[in-house]
Amino acid sequence: MTKLLITGGAGFIGSNFVHYTLTNRPEYEITVIDKLTYAGNLDNLTSVMDKITFVKGDICDQNLMDDLVDKNDIVVHFAAESHNDNSLRNPQPFIQTNIVGTFTILESIRKFGKRLHHISTDEVYGDLALDDPAKFNENTPYNASSPYSSSKASSDLLVKAWIRSFGIKATISNCSNNYGPYQHIEKFIPRQITNILSGISPKLYGTGEQVRDWIHVDDHNSAVHTIIDKGVLGELYLIGANGEQNNKYVLETILELMGKDKTAYEHVNDRPGHDQRYAIDSTKLQTQLGWKPKYTDLRAGLQATIDWYQQNDSWWQNEKAKIEAAYAEKGQ
Ligand code: NAD
Ligand code: TYD
Repeated sequence: MTKLLITGGAGFIGSNFVHYTLTNRPEYEITVIDKLTYAGNLDNLTSVMDKITFVKGDICDQNLMDDLVDKNDIVVHFAAESHNDNSLRNPQPFIQTNIVGTFTILESIRKFGKRLHHISTDEVYGDLALDDPAKFNENTPYNASSPYSSSKASSDLLVKAWIRSFGIKATISNCSNNYGPYQHIEKFIPRQITNILSGISPKLYGTGEQVRDWIHVDDHNSAVHTIIDKGVLGELYLIGANGEQNNKYVLETILELMGKDKTAYEHVNDRPGHDQRYAIDSTKLQTQLGWKPKYTDLRAGLQATIDWYQQNDSWWQNEKAKIEAAYAEKGQ
C-alpha cells in the first residue's frame, strides 16, 4: 500500500479527493491532516472515517508535519486559506497558512526525501482582458492580483525553489475554478444556490461580465491523480476543462434550473481589484500525460450541484446567516 498524506482533506476539493481516491484508487492508504478552520468540515468525511486516519492539526506545526511526512510516501497539499473576499478583509491567515504552511511542508519533504504534489490555482497568473483570445499556459508569467492569489503564487515559488535548490521530488498543478458538492457557501455558485433555497436574492458583483473557467471538482481530482502517476518530477501542469462562462450567464442558468425568473437577482458592490477573466490551456496535461475531463456539460454539472445542496441543507444551513452578514457589511 502506498501511504498518501492529504493536507486540507476536510475542505471542498480535499474531501472530494479523499472520496475519489477511496472509490477509484484502493491501493492508497489515506491520512488526512486538517486544522478544521471555518472552511474545514468533518461532516465531509463522516461516511469514510473508518477507512482513513484523520489528524486535526496545523500545517505550520513543523514537529507534526515532520512526524506525518516521515510516516507517509506521498503528500498531496490542498490545505490553504482559499477565498479572495476573505483575503481582502484580513490577509494575515493567508500569509501564515499558504506561505509559512507550504514552507513547513517543504522542509519536512526535504528532510525525509518524500514526494510532494502541490495544489495551486490559475489565479497566480493574474487576469486576462475580456476581449483577449489568449489563455494561461505553463509559460505565462506570474502576476497575482489579490492577497489570496499572491500568497498562492508565493507558495508555488517556494516549491519551485526547493525543487531547484534542494532537488526535492515535487510537481505543481494550477487549476481553474472548481464547482461541485461540499463547496463552502461563501463561494459564488453555492452562495447563489443556497440564497435561492433560503429566499434571499442572488448577488452578482458589478456587471457580472467577469469570466471564470469552470471545472467539476472530480475532473480536477482525476487530473491530480494523473500527475501523481505520470507527471515529470519538477514540472508544473495547468488543469482546466474549457469551461469559460461569465458570472451573469452562470447565475442566470442557476436561476433557470431552479425554476426562477432569470432576472431575479441583485447587482451588488464589485470586488476591489476584481480579476476580469481566467482561461486555461491544458494542452500540456492532455497531450503529455493523456488526461481528459469527463464533466464538460456545465448545465448538467450545475443541476447535480443544485440537487446536492437541496438534499443536504443541514450541511450548510447553520452557516448561512453568518456568511450573509459578513457580505452585507461590504455591501455584497
Ligand atoms: P477550502 O477552503 O474549501 O478548504 C481548505 C481546507 O484547508 C479546509 O479544510 C481547512 O480547514 C484546511 N486548512 C486551512 N488552513 C489550514 C492549516 N493551517 N493547517 C491545516 N489545514 C488547514 O479550499 P478548497 O477550495 O478546497 O481549495 C483547496 C486547494 O485548492 C487550495 O490550495 C486552493 O488554493 C486550491 N484551488 C482551489 C480552487 C477552487 O476553485 N476552489 C481552484 C484551484 C485551486
Ligand atoms: P469565487 O467563487 O469567490 O471564486 P474566485 O474569486 O476564485 O474566482 O467567485 C467567482 C466569481 O464570482 C468572481 O468573479 C466573483 C463573483 N462573485 C459574485 O458575482 N457574487 C458572489 O456572491 C461571489 C461570492 C462571487
